[in-house]
Amino acid sequence: MDKNAPLGLFDSGVGGLTVVREVFKSLPREKVIYFADTGRVPYGPLPQEDIQRFTVQIVQFLEEKGAKLVIIACNTATAAGLEAAQEAVEIPVIGVIKPGAQLALETTVNKRVGVIATEATIKSGAYEETIKAMDPEAEVFGQACYEFTPLIEAGKKDSDEIAEYAREYLATFEDKDIDTLVYGCTHYPLLEDLVQGIVGEKVAPVNPAIKAVEQAQQILSEAGLLSDRSEDPDHEYFVSGDPAAFAELGAVILERPLPEVGKVDMK
Ligand code: DGL
Repeated sequence: MDKNAPLGLFDSGVGGLTVVREVFKSLPREKVIYFADTGRVPYGPLPQEDIQRFTVQIVQFLEEKGAKLVIIACNTATAAGLEAAQEAVEIPVIGVIKPGAQLALETTVNKRVGVIATEATIKSGAYEETIKAMDPEAEVFGQACYEFTPLIEAGKKDSDEIAEYAREYLATFEDKDIDTLVYGCTHYPLLEDLVQGIVGEKVAPVNPAIKAVEQAQQILSEAGLLSDRSEDPDHEYFVSGDPAAFAELGAVILERPLPEVGKVDMK
């Protein structure tokens, strides 16, 4: 494997770019190939079997594109498809849930942890299971935030509408005495100011991406596969939906213009 081969990342939409941001910060020499399944977003309301099938299909696409490692930059796809994807390809595949669970336990003092995520992730029980497997004393409180992803994908992350939903969803934590909140959907760090404004500064935010990228770095370093290129990499972006809409939102999230976004048919 070529150490300058790209890192593959994917999500249902623009949310996974919050993971790409962490790659740019911690591993600036790595080239990224990002796939956004915007033709089929949101994954949250879908059955686990469909999400698993999409996950395997996209991880195979990224392997064909030459990726040396894939980060599933989507909690919903991690919960439904991480193991199936790991079995389907030769390259290492990591998700965001285990790293998020680890970071939550490193952060919490009172062991009362809130998780905000999609409907499918909450229903899967993946965060609760993973956190409790690492620390049986921990209490986990999950809340599905049904409308967040569709509104973010529609460019409405700063709208009154999303703020209204946030107040409604986060009210569940008022009597739970949590000291830590996991942003268990990669779209949600885009709402950090709004969410922290509601839950207050006594609740520490956990972004699983930070730990997931650390893990990717460790795997690559152990395999001698960290990039040694000296010039800035040319990243590549693909979508299954509208390339122009993705390029516009993506440029805001990554604070840089995106190169031409490729369109891939996924069925
Ligand atoms: N960003 C995704 C996640 O981390 C999924 C959002 C969705 O498609 O519903 O779960």
